[in-house]
Amino acid sequence: MNKKHYTGLIDRYRSILPIAENCKVISLCEGDTPLVQANNLEQVNQRDIKLYLKFEGLNPTGSFKDRGMTVAVTQAVSEGSRAIICASTGNTSASAAAYAARAGIKAFVLIPDGKIAMGKLAQAMMHGATIIQICGNFDDGMRLVKEVAEEAPVSIVNSINPYRLQGQKTAAYEIVEALGRAPDFHCIPVGNAGNISAHWTGYSELAASDGHNVTEACGFCNGECQFISTPIATTKPKMLGYQAAGAAPFMHGKAIDNPETVATAIRIGHPQSWDYAQAAVKESTGWFNSFSDEQILATQKLLSAKEGIFCEPASATSVTGALHDIEKGNIPNGSIVVCTLTGHGLKDPDIAIKQSNTELINIDDAQLDSVKRAILDNL
Ligand code: F0G
Repeated sequence: MNKKHYTGLIDRYRSILPIAENCKVISLCEGDTPLVQANNLEQVNQRDIKLYLKFEGLNPTGSFKDRGMTVAVTQAVSEGSRAIICASTGNTSASAAAYAARAGIKAFVLIPDGKIAMGKLAQAMMHGATIIQICGNFDDGMRLVKEVAEEAPVSIVNSINPYRLQGQKTAAYEIVEALGRAPDFHCIPVGNAGNISAHWTGYSELAASDGHNVTEACGFCNGECQFISTPIATTKPKMLGYQAAGAAPFMHGKAIDNPETVATAIRIGHPQSWDYAQAAVKESTGWFNSFSDEQILATQKLLSAKEGIFCEPASATSVTGALHDIEKGNIPNGSIVVCTLTGHGLKDPDIAIKQSNTELINIDDAQLDSVKRAILDNL
């Protein structure tokens, strides 16, 4: 294969990942996602803020989970594991199922009955996972996964698996490479709290290495590829963790039972990476905040309609928070802000169709005149 062809984040970032030299890499060419500047949001332009959207929905299974899964499954296979298991609100199960299929091993996924988006369920089904629906939520599933892994030969690939967070930290590297520096603020939805922790690890490593030499990490060229850059990351962003109001344990300062939100991906009350996420926010002098389902859905629609980017509801939480904090002046004029859009909108078409309020124009023939009238009436 052409050496300049992108072959996934383990090849790209091998030198900063805990991957043994000669192990078989399980990859779907994840990572290298676009960092799109939001050009059309008035709230941002008026205040001279540069707001970038890291569209993680463009990973192979449509969410950021693939970054962690390539590393976790590569490690599991290299340890001889024949089966992986996870609890999931949907995206982890889709990603685990795909990478297990790729590796030729079994995936078991525990999902909350009736509370995962249809696209995610379809993915797990198509990739051949064994799907166990429980009469409980994600937190119940997580407890059961930890218990069952003590007694059955299965490797856990939830973000309590440290290899997951190692893979996910690469998003911070990509952002610093793209901007040539760290952003001032990084806004991110928080559910199980692994991703905010992983990003903080990435940014902290970059700052500690005082201008990490990415040429070194690029293991597949002779110094001539598109990835050559030496990002200067002498600063770290403030980490802003945003939650849905009905599932906001970090706002309550403690775990909650019975979380509820339309953003089913982050319908979590007992985040597993509690301490890491608290540390990320505290060390970066950032903050947590939470927003109503209505606010989150309005932002999802705003991004689709104004920027052409269709993300899932949980993902829109990051931009909901950013716009709120820009409006309030908590994010000062002139700042560089990155929002992670964690998953693709196509994961959850039901919610999108329900909330879009788009009337379909029905014409009861297939004639040019009727179509022309419909267009002229709506110009
Ligand atoms: N956004 C999306 C689309 C997610 O799927 C998740 C987590 C998050 C945000 C929150 O990330 O857990 O690292 O704080 N989804 C997990 C799952 C829980 O099972 O798919 P986090």
